[in-house]
Amino acid sequence: YEILSFINIAFLTMHINFNLSKKILPWYDNNKRSLPWRVGKTSKKKLYYRLLSEFMLQQTQVKTVIPYFKKFTKNYKTLKSLSKANENQILKLWEGLGYYRRARNLLASAKLLVKKYNSKLPDDLKELKKLPGVGEYTANALLGLVHDKPTIALDGNVKRIFARYLNKKEIGINFEKLISINKKKLFSTNRNSDFVEALMEFGALVCKPKDPKCGDCCLNKSCRYLKSTNKIKNNKRKQIKIMHYDIFCYLNKSKRIALTKENKISFLKNFNLPSIKKMKNIKSNKNWKFLKNYKNSISNQKLNINLYYKFSNKIPLSYKWYSLNNNKEFIPSFTKKIFQQVSVLF
Ligand code: ADE
Repeated sequence: YEILSFINIAFLTMHINFNLSKKILPWYDNNKRSLPWRVGKTSKKKLYYRLLSEFMLQQTQVKTVIPYFKKFTKNYKTLKSLSKANENQILKLWEGLGYYRRARNLLASAKLLVKKYNSKLPDDLKELKKLPGVGEYTANALLGLVHDKPTIALDGNVKRIFARYLNKKEIGINFEKLISINKKKLFSTNRNSDFVEALMEFGALVCKPKDPKCGDCCLNKSCRYLKSTNKIKNNKRKQIKIMHYDIFCYLNKSKRIALTKENKISFLKNFNLPSIKKMKNIKSNKNWKFLKNYKNSISNQKLNINLYYKFSNKIPLSYKWYSLNNNKEFIPSFTKKIFQQVSVLF
C-alpha cells in the first residue's frame, strides 16, 4: 500500500499544468527559425527533407547541417534520386559532417522506403524502427513531423525542458509515463508535427542547457525550476547579517585625528580611516569614551557601529595625523561624518 501511494504521489506531481502545447506553439509561430527542411505540410518534398535532415541532425548542430542539407538537396532533388545514388557519391557529399554510418544508413533507408514502402513513410513506430539508422528518437520525430502523429521526440533538449519544468532530475523521470498520462493536454492542439518541432526549437533557443532565457519564457508562470530559483534568490536577499563594529578615534589637542589604511575590514580596505574593529558588541572600554552609535545598511548587512575616542599624543606606527579641517585629500564619506562628530569635542 505504501509503495502504491508513493507511486501515486510521484505521478500526481507529474500531472500539473501540462498544457505546454498551448503556450509553446504561439511562441514557436513567432520565433521559429527559417530552416530549409521546414517545408509545408502538403509539400511533396516533406518526407525526403525530413528524413535527410533528421539523419544529419542526429549528432550535429543545426548551423553545421544547413550547408550540407542544401548541397545534398541540390544534388539529389528527390528521395527516389537519392535511393539510386551510389555510396561513394553520398560519402563524398557527407565529407566533413562526420559519423559516416549515418550516410550509409540514410542511403539504405532511402532504398528501402522506395522499394518496400512505395516511397511512403510507414506510420507505425515498430515498422519505422526497422529502417537502418532509425532509432526510438528519429522514429518518433518522423512520425510526428511527417505524419502529424501525436508524439514527442525525446532528445536531450526535450528531456531537459520537461525536467526543468518539473524541477526534477532527468534520471528521476519516467518520460514514457509522463507523456502517456498527460497525453490529452499535450496533444490538444491538433498541431502535432509543429509541436514536435516547437519543442526542439524551444530547447535550442529558450530552455538552453546553460543560461536558459527564463525572463522571456512563455512557461515562466508555471515552471517549477524558475519558482525554485526565485525562491533561492529571495531567501538570499532576506539573509541580512547584523555586523557590529567599533571605531576608535585617536584625537590630539590641535584638532587632529589619526587615520590608518591598515583596516582588516574588506569593504573598507585601503582607505584612510580611524581604527575600525569587528566586535562582538562590547559596550564600553575603560580607555575609550563612547561618543555615538550609528546604524547603517549596506547590501545585505546591517551595521551597528559604536564610535569611541581618546585624546592621545601617541599613536601606533601605521597611523598618521590628519587635520579635521582637511579638505584636500580624499576622505571616505563615512569618515567625514566621523570628522564632524568628533569636531564637537573641541
Ligand atoms: N534537431 C533535430 N531535428 C530538428 C529540427 N527539425 N529542427 C531543429 N532542430 C532539430
